[in-house]
Amino acid sequence: MALIEWNDSLLIGVEEVDRQHQHLVQVLNRLHHAMQMGGKSPDVVCVMQDLVSYTKYHFETEERLMAAAGFPELASHRLKHQAMVAKVGEFSEEVMAGKSTVTMRLMPFLKDWLAKHILETDNRFGEYMARKRAA
Ligand SMILES: [Fe+2]
Repeated sequence: MALIEWNDSLLIGVEEVDRQHQHLVQVLNRLHHAMQMGGKSPDVVCVMQDLVSYTKYHFETEERLMAAAGFPELASHRLKHQAMVAKVGEFSEEVMAGKSTVTMRLMPFLKDWLAKHILETDNRFGEYMARKRAA
């Protein structure tokens, strides 16, 4: 079973961001699947590395779009991104070190974070862009 089922309530209305969020959900589901297959398998390590690099790439995209649009909450959004990159990096190190308890903490954390990140934080950017288009 997938960790996160994509549904259109997760769309924020900014095409590039929405596309990347869908990809992020896929990576999380791949990681979840690989972890269910067990411990420090080559798959887990590989997908974890994908997650780390895609997360950074995605945040860079968002920050670029936010800066270009003059989004006033960019600074606080960037802080949240930095905290998340640090956290994912820590988890990644645990995965590399083969810590067996990581799965149980990582999956709920990522699931929860993704939902909050998209529905609360990024959605504010989506609303800002919608207001900008309407103006
Ligand atoms: Fe995002």
